[in-house]
Amino acid sequence: MTAGVIVLGSSGHAKVCIELLRSAGASVAYCIGAAESSTECLGVPVLNGDEHLKRLQSEGYEEVFVAIGANALRQRLALFATGLGFRLVNAISPRAVISPTATIGAGVAIMAGAVVNAECVVGDLAIINTLASVDHDGRIGDAAHIAPHCGLAGNVAVGERSFLGVGCKVIPDITIGEDVLAGAGSVIVKNVESGSRIAGVPAKAIHKRA
Ligand SMILES: CC(C)(COP(=O)(O)OP(=O)(O)OC[C@H]1O[C@@H](n2cnc3c(N)ncnc32)[C@H](O)[C@@H]1OP(=O)(O)O)[C@@H](O)C(=O)NCCC(=O)NCCS
Repeated sequence: MTAGVIVLGSSGHAKVCIELLRSAGASVAYCIGAAESSTECLGVPVLNGDEHLKRLQSEGYEEVFVAIGANALRQRLALFATGLGFRLVNAISPRAVISPTATIGAGVAIMAGAVVNAECVVGDLAIINTLASVDHDGRIGDAAHIAPHCGLAGNVAVGERSFLGVGCKVIPDITIGEDVLAGAGSVIVKNVESGSRIAGVPAKAIHKRA
């Protein structure tokens, strides 16, 4: 089957992912956006509403990429699409450096300049964003997002759906739980419990302003 890839999302993150898919030789047939989305994204027609997925599947489209930045939503939409029978494809820049001993899941985005080193495991739907590096033995959970310019030292584990904001640094052997939010520029020097919101140097708990 050579029908194009369906991209879920039509935002800035979707633009980057469409270019990654194209750089790997894929053609992107449609984006699926929300009601307020514009009608095209980088020349790809945008259909509004997830109900279009079912019709596209019956028309022979088989591959989907979920280009949604919000981690939990990305995971839910992927489950919906795979439940309809779609296959998750990866969007990986030819200018990313990925160790031959790394294991990469499905539906993963790895942007230009990212480095994934020896024996790393990158879970399904994870994002390793522009110029982020994950050193040896890193374990990036499903639907986690390592934002641009993050630097993870060796043997760091990041749990499912956790988000490390732009420029975070993590010292070796740290375990970060699930659904953690780490603010931009955090320096993480201790293990982090699931569900925590942290920021700063060194990173500490933060609370939402009232
Ligand atoms: C962490 C973050 C999500 C917090 O947003 P928020 O929930 O709206 O929190 P607030 O702006 O209300 O800030 C809460 C407190 O944390 C502090 N804080 C927020 N972000 C911080 C950061 N990155 N570093 C240090 N302190 C930070 C605020 O100064 C505030 O402190 P105060 O209570 O003493 O005033 C946001 O600031 C951030 O860093 N986002 C990263 C975005 C990013 O990297 N995106 C990449 C996309 S690819």
